[in-house]
Amino acid sequence: MGTWTGKSFVKVIDHSPEDLMVLLERSTALKAQKRAGTEQQHLVGKNIALLFEKTSTRTRAAFEVAAYDQGAHVTYMDPSGSQMGHKESIADTARVIGRMYDAIQYRGSTQENVETLAASAGVPVYNGLTNEWHPTQMLGDFLTMSEHAPKPLNEVSFAFVGDGRFNMGRSLTVMGALMGCDVRMVGPSALMPPAEVVDAARAIAATTGGTVALTEDLDAGVAGADFVHTDVWVSMGEPKEVWAERAEELGDYRVTSAVMGLAGPGAKFMHCLPAFHDANTTVGAEIAAATGYEDGLEVSHDVFESAASVVFDQAENRMHTIKALMVETLSG
Ligand code: CP
Ligand code: NVA
Repeated sequence: MGTWTGKSFVKVIDHSPEDLMVLLERSTALKAQKRAGTEQQHLVGKNIALLFEKTSTRTRAAFEVAAYDQGAHVTYMDPSGSQMGHKESIADTARVIGRMYDAIQYRGSTQENVETLAASAGVPVYNGLTNEWHPTQMLGDFLTMSEHAPKPLNEVSFAFVGDGRFNMGRSLTVMGALMGCDVRMVGPSALMPPAEVVDAARAIAATTGGTVALTEDLDAGVAGADFVHTDVWVSMGEPKEVWAERAEELGDYRVTSAVMGLAGPGAKFMHCLPAFHDANTTVGAEIAAATGYEDGLEVSHDVFESAASVVFDQAENRMHTIKALMVETLSG
């Protein structure tokens, strides 16, 4: 039995740095094995339920490809394809799905839902994003940083620039602390992660050698950082009406080439994606017209397309890390 066997993964703060490192190391191994054509299947005969109450490209694709590579089967259910939440409670759904499947991925609104699923299902539950946390994204992000930094993660510094109140800002604060990083949360003070998250991250950082700084000062926050992260200004589930207000609040915190120039030598740009870096999508065009930012919102197009941008490595790593999570929790 491994340390992860049978466990759920609903938020990173539930797990020790050592256990999280087990997943990152397994991810590296599985990635190398896939590249070399030597991957062994550990999940033959397993069935994984993928419950999505919000849309997804990367997370769904990562779970599906990882499962197929490992010999498992998946069932994808979107809100119109299940009774969950509207006709049947989350707890009842969990008990039904848990009788048929070996693990459940859930993406939805509240963290309470995924915690209820995990408490009731009797099989591992993976949080594929809630309003509050995005733990599988953290595995992909920290694998990517470990690949692109010529030093251990506990010597890495990164700045998150933008709205820190949502899943990405909160998760990076805590995961950075767990990994012993120099974490800088940069943005308007009203958009910082909640105090309880910052306090918890600082308590963890005190034991890992990390630091967690909050600052409105963009120049100071980004100065010398190895990585600059950002996220969309408006998250899934938020009403369209908040765009104008958010653009006003975050207009000074766009990640442009000038901002990247403040970061350390060789600094890399990261984004969980999808990103609004041009006006070439329906929503991107609407928002560009409304806000006047034609060359990208949270990140400028030139930074997104620059050699410093590792966003597609980051996206690919979702698959290798989610595979490691399923292998570690469902085999051995
Ligand atoms: N980063 C991420 O979770 O992407 P999707 O919304 O496409 O799954
Ligand atoms: N904060 C974003 C992350 C998307 C992966 C959202 O919740 O929409």
